[in-house]
Amino acid sequence: MSVMVNVNGQLADQARAVIPVFDHGFLYGEGIYETVRTYNGVPFLFDRHMQRLRTSAAMIALPIPLTDREISERFDATVAAAHLGRDGHEAYIRLLITRGVGELSYDPAACPTPSVVIIAKPHVDPPAEAFALGVKTTIVSIVRNHPATVNPLIKSNNLLNCALAMQEAYTRGAFEGIMRNVHGELAECSTANLFIVKRGTVLTPPLDAGLLAGVTRAFVLEIAAALGIPAREQTLHDTDLFHADEAFLTSTTRELLPITTVDDQPIGGGIPGPVTERLLTEYRRRARALTARL
Ligand code: PDD
Repeated sequence: MSVMVNVNGQLADQARAVIPVFDHGFLYGEGIYETVRTYNGVPFLFDRHMQRLRTSAAMIALPIPLTDREISERFDATVAAAHLGRDGHEAYIRLLITRGVGELSYDPAACPTPSVVIIAKPHVDPPAEAFALGVKTTIVSIVRNHPATVNPLIKSNNLLNCALAMQEAYTRGAFEGIMRNVHGELAECSTANLFIVKRGTVLTPPLDAGLLAGVTRAFVLEIAAALGIPAREQTLHDTDLFHADEAFLTSTTRELLPITTVDDQPIGGGIPGPVTERLLTEYRRRARALTARL
């Protein structure tokens, strides 16, 4: 197993994979990305990630030079070259598409050809104890981008907003930083979406609070509906989180991870709750079932 990178169709190992400094992804952070992981060696919810990729691209007027099928073929080639996707070695796959190489100008016409990079490396699960005990989080002072600035619906390579939030969380010894929007409502974590459970109902902030439309978030809402667990979007404030019976975060690489502490205050009983555990079990069952090879 190793790390392999596909730059515009050419495979290279980690040390040799390069992008020109005149790429506007580097110069201006102009680009979008998706993080996908495999179960059973198969990229999970691939179609949904491609749909979001195209939404992000449209929001920055970036043409995607490949079909979903071509992207899928490049994923497979890159994962195989890294000796991943078999014998139980799951892959983390990051697809980045940038504006491409061009003169120093914000004019998209300066860059005729987008750059397409795919990174495949071993997927690493969060430690078992994070699932067993839950994680420590903190509400950070960095505010999530207002949708009228850089809309959080764009899965942008320009991650400074989230990086600064996470820096604050690191300094407080927390696993994740929870961000509010400009109105003081809870939005999402720096690299994950946020959920609470109150009196048996699963609640998550609405997209118009200003957050990424997480693929895992949507999948979890569907699972809750299928299990007959009430679930909906609702505007949430700090007090809702502190008084929640359970809380958890969701992301492609971390599935559903219980949040048991916020700013040193235990949530619920300070241990992962039953609704979170039920949803996680069903999430994993479906992930395996949907990727099972015949
Ligand atoms: N992060 N919110 C933010 C700001 C994110 O960066 C992510 C994902 C999510 C969850 O989205 P999804 O369920 O589609 O993974 C929410 C990925 C894993 C990353 O940055 O690598």
